[in-house]
Amino acid sequence: MKTVVFGGAFDPPHREHIRMLKAAVEELGAERAVVVPTYFPPHKSQGILPFAERAELCRAAFGDSTGVEVVVDETEFERGRDNYTCLVLPELKKKYGDIIYLIGGDSLEYLPTWKNPAEVMKICTIAVAEREGFASVRESAAKLAARFGGDIRVLNFVGKEVSSGRMRAELFLGEDSAGVTESVARTVRERGYYRDYADTVEKVKACESADLYEHTRQVVFRAIDLNSAHNLKCDFRKVFLAALLHDNAKQRPSVDGLSVPADSVGTKVLHQFLGAEKAKRDFGIDDDEILEAVRCHTTAKPAMTVFEKLVYTADSTSYDREYDPIPVIRAIADKDFEKGFLSVLEYTYMKLTAAGGAIYPLTEEAVKYYLPDIAGWV
Ligand SMILES: [Fe+2]
Ligand SMILES: [Fe+2]
Repeated sequence: MKTVVFGGAFDPPHREHIRMLKAAVEELGAERAVVVPTYFPPHKSQGILPFAERAELCRAAFGDSTGVEVVVDETEFERGRDNYTCLVLPELKKKYGDIIYLIGGDSLEYLPTWKNPAEVMKICTIAVAEREGFASVRESAAKLAARFGGDIRVLNFVGKEVSSGRMRAELFLGEDSAGVTESVARTVRERGYYRDYADTVEKVKACESADLYEHTRQVVFRAIDLNSAHNLKCDFRKVFLAALLHDNAKQRPSVDGLSVPADSVGTKVLHQFLGAEKAKRDFGIDDDEILEAVRCHTTAKPAMTVFEKLVYTADSTSYDREYDPIPVIRAIADKDFEKGFLSVLEYTYMKLTAAGGAIYPLTEEAVKYYLPDIAGWV
């Protein structure tokens, strides 16, 4: 029985996955689809929903969506380790017979970095879908087939660019995600999946006006997007929490005896220091990476980590900021993360300089560190 095998994290499985699988089944004339959620050992699962939950969501998502029998396969979970394609595919072939392995165009790029690509190509035909906004994969498919042997079939289907990180963030915020089907949304609701931070989200809402909370959620989305667009490899959950909490003290400025720099009291930058202290006190955050990113999200500082730059840049280029020149800076950050970060710092410094007030020492130091040519213009 001709079977399409479709692997992925499926965190969550979304509409675009379904479109792609359905198109592959139709184009390839398959009679069965096997969906294979990838298994990550617990210590490598960074922000990923546990296997059993993703498998259940796959059953809800793919169920009868393709017009042929769909099996959600648990081979990777049962193996539990070393789930390289070259080891998993032979098992799937044994189980299902005549298989075609379906991958996205972006995965094709990484094929040479897989373990034993030539082995993988011998096991079965690979079907690849193109993606909107990306160069055609036809040429690279032909090159890879020539290099490693085997057969790569390029589908006529062109996938849309969607972000499962964005969907995950929406679900974590307790919102509906348009990217998932109703049956996935229902399962998520009924089972309480992606509710890990429900209490934190409610508390943040209680600390922020509707406008400020709207800004907060746009910073969350922005940070998640920048992290994945530039493959910054920051931990998803930490990015989510730092962005969610970055302004938690903005509208509750009472110092309450917490430890903040004396020279920040009464200034606009107080809320970053207080935000870190209150994230600890009120939200139980004890992760230094998160706290430090909150602590410098307004002023910046010298020698920032990628994580700190991410939160800083996401805050200043968040999607709710439509005034000049933010859309231009946002576009720069979309293209080049480091340039985007420097543009934010430069813009902020110029704006503060033009306003003529005092500039907080940490900002001065950050400018001296990152933009020595413009430092000292005041
Ligand atoms: Fe802020
Ligand atoms: Fe903010």
